[in-house]
This record gives sequence, C-alpha cells and structure tokens, in this order.
Amino acid sequence: MIEVHGLEKSFAEQRVLRGVDFTATAGTATAVLGPSGSGKTTLLRSLNVLEAPDAGTVRIGDARLNFADPPAGKAAYRRAVKALRARSGMVFQSHHLFPHKTVLQNLLEGPVHVQGRDREEATEDARALLAQVGLAGREDAYPSQLSGGQQQRVGIARALALRPEVLLLDEPTSALDPELVGEVLDVVRDLAEQGWTLVIVTHEVRFARDVADQVLFLDGGRVAERGGAEVLTDPREERTRRFLSRVLDAG
Ligand SMILES: Nc1ncnc2c1ncn2[C@@H]1O[C@H](COP(=O)(O)OP(=O)(O)OP(=O)(O)O)[C@@H](O)[C@H]1O
Ligand SMILES: [Mg+2]
Repeated sequence: MIEVHGLEKSFAEQRVLRGVDFTATAGTATAVLGPSGSGKTTLLRSLNVLEAPDAGTVRIGDARLNFADPPAGKAAYRRAVKALRARSGMVFQSHHLFPHKTVLQNLLEGPVHVQGRDREEATEDARALLAQVGLAGREDAYPSQLSGGQQQRVGIARALALRPEVLLLDEPTSALDPELVGEVLDVVRDLAEQGWTLVIVTHEVRFARDVADQVLFLDGGRVAERGGAEVLTDPREERTRRFLSRVLDAG
C-alpha cells in the first residue's frame, strides 16, 4: 500500500507540491489527472525518490521516509531512500530503453546488474513478463526494431522485472501514435486485473474511468478532488469539470 502525507516540493521559488495527501491500498489502481504543471510528474518522481520532497512522508509497504525529518547521517538517509525506491517501478512517457541492448538484456540490466539476482532465474522471470505484455519471442530484438507501442510495453516489463510492490506510470501513452495507445492501455488494464498496485498519470479519461479504483485530480500542487470513477463522470469541483470538458473536447 501507498501512504503519502503532507508532501511538499518547491523548485527555486515555485511551490509545485503543496501538501499532497493520499492513500492507495494494495491491489488498487489510482489514476492521477490534472492540468499541465499541476505537479503530477513531480508527485510520481517523489514516490520513487527521483525527486527529494522538501517535507511530508511517503510510505510504500514497510518502507517509510519522513522528508521533513530524515534519518540522521548520509549513509542512513541513502539506505532509507534505497529501501523506498526499491518498492516502486517507474514507467515514463518514453521508454528510455538501452538502444544497443536487446529486449532481454534491457530486462536483465536491473535485476542482474543492480539487484544481483541469479541470471537464470531473472531470465525466466523476464520471459514470463515479456509474454505478459504480449511480446513473447521478441527477446533478441533491439528497441529500434520494435514499434513505439512495443517499446513502451518492454518499458513496462522492465519496470516489473525489478519486482516492485507498486508500478508508477507517467503518461505511458502520450508519446505514442493514436493507433498504438490501445495495446499499451490493454497491458495496463491486465496488470490492474491481476492485482498490481498502480498509480498512473493519464489523460485517457475513458480508460481511467474503466480501470481506476481511485481518481485524484491534482490542481496547483494539491489534490483538488479525490474519489472513485464519479470524479470523472460527475465531478464536484468546478475546476475538475472545466478540465474534463477540455480534455474530452480535445480527444
Ligand atoms: N526539475 C525541475 N526544475 C525546475 N522546475 C521544475 C522541475 N520539474 C518540474 N518543474 C516545474 O514544476 C511544475 C510542475 O511540473 P510537473 O512536471 O510535475 O507537472 P505535470 O503536472 O506533470 O505537467 P504535464 O501535464 O505537463 O506533464 C512545472 O511548472 C514545472 O516547470
Ligand atoms: Mg508530467
């Protein structure tokens, strides 16, 4: 499960996260929507500690870090960051695969070279994950030989190869050609059905409505509205309404 409390982050003078709170129970999918610049990416990056928040606490499973009162000493802080980071996997807008490594090598990089897991076992795992994202048999392809949608699915498999407790996806389909969006969303939908804990930033309102157990609407660095799918069908807040009508008009 994920517990975020009072998360704050500024860049120079700009307050980007202004006290974000939310909880996501294990096995649920949380969709995060909101205008450009509202802090969605910064929130996900904070959960994975790619960004160090200025204040607030993040708990994922049994790893917890209070950024206002971090463990004393560099080594202890680093250990706490590492423990928290290990519990989430990140999928970015574009996949960041190693271009000179095959699909399988990309999937083994983290488990074998970073986590020090047994190569054979990690390879077995990687093959199962590739099958799960619909890419069985493409182990030896290079990223450039795959479509954008396939590359993004490798990106998802690579994040899962690290065996995280939660998967964080930042607009995983927004860089794709429209005809490739569906295949990636289908994979995410499968993961949700299998009980993965997901936090997904997306502008795909229909997808969010179908898949999300919880919807967060972020505005100006705060959770402006939070609830079930009704946030997307019958929002309480005027800001959410305005945002949705813009997004739905654009789609
Ligand atoms: N590393 C950084 N340095 C300085 N400012 C940053 C940095 N990262 C984000 N920001 C600023 O913080 C604000 C929120 O950015 P963020 O990327 O979290 O928004 P977002 O909701 O993900 O937007 P989008 O929908 O466009 O992806 C923006 O104004 C952005 O310019
Ligand atoms: Mg973003």
